[in-house]
Amino acid sequence: MHKNPIGVFDSGVGGLSVLYAIRKMLPNEDVIYVADQAFSPYGKRTKEEIIKRSDAISNWLISKNCKLIVVACNTATTNAISHLRNTFTVPFVGIEPAIKPAALGSKTGVVGVLATEGTLSSELFQATTQDHAKDIEVITQIGHGLVALVEEGNADSPQAEIQLRKDLAPMLKKPIDHLVLGCTHYPFLNKPLKSILPKNVTIVDCGEAVAKQTKRLLESREILNTVGGRTNYYSTAFPNKKLWKMFGVIEVNQTAI
Ligand code: DGL
Repeated sequence: MHKNPIGVFDSGVGGLSVLYAIRKMLPNEDVIYVADQAFSPYGKRTKEEIIKRSDAISNWLISKNCKLIVVACNTATTNAISHLRNTFTVPFVGIEPAIKPAALGSKTGVVGVLATEGTLSSELFQATTQDHAKDIEVITQIGHGLVALVEEGNADSPQAEIQLRKDLAPMLKKPIDHLVLGCTHYPFLNKPLKSILPKNVTIVDCGEAVAKQTKRLLESREILNTVGGRTNYYSTAFPNKKLWKMFGVIEVNQTAI
């Protein structure tokens, strides 16, 4: 079992921001990464559609003998993780907007969350925010077209900066001192984000926390791999080689899920 791969999935290349953290912390694991680009973006899909896709991909990863699955997508986690945990016996690690560390670190008592519509409207996100809303003010904002910009290879472009300025303008009128990135595509917008955000605003992304939780789970179940290290990449759409190359990935296989 310990030599079996870890499965990681997202709607597209966004989950690579989580994969990088996993690779760094767990260099000897074999990983199968699935980008559901035929159904991207997830952010505007219904809860039922997101559950259906997450279910199908998890099934496929389990058929490839994955010993653990990382849902490297906030939209899929906040909408489908309870379904996945109730359906499959394999352990799941999810990713949700990291409001807690932002709330704990905030001096102004105001934090911003930038995420997809699907994440912000989910019950899980609403419940997490409620838990923290007693102590701090949480200002949420839907990212418009930001996932598409990353998927088109335009993360570091004038269009990305223009769109981010528009989306962030309302929350920047408030004294936020933390911006939680509630979508795994958004860490790739780091450059334009840094040029827009005031210097006192800390960007919070939880790729590393997900990697730590993955390691903890593998250790507690005694299924850590010490001899692997390969990553195989799959896309449900015809792979855009130029895009994947921008993320350092040369070989991507198309698969129908
Ligand atoms: N990267 C995903 C997330 O973390 C999905 C974005 C999308 O497909 O809309 O939410």
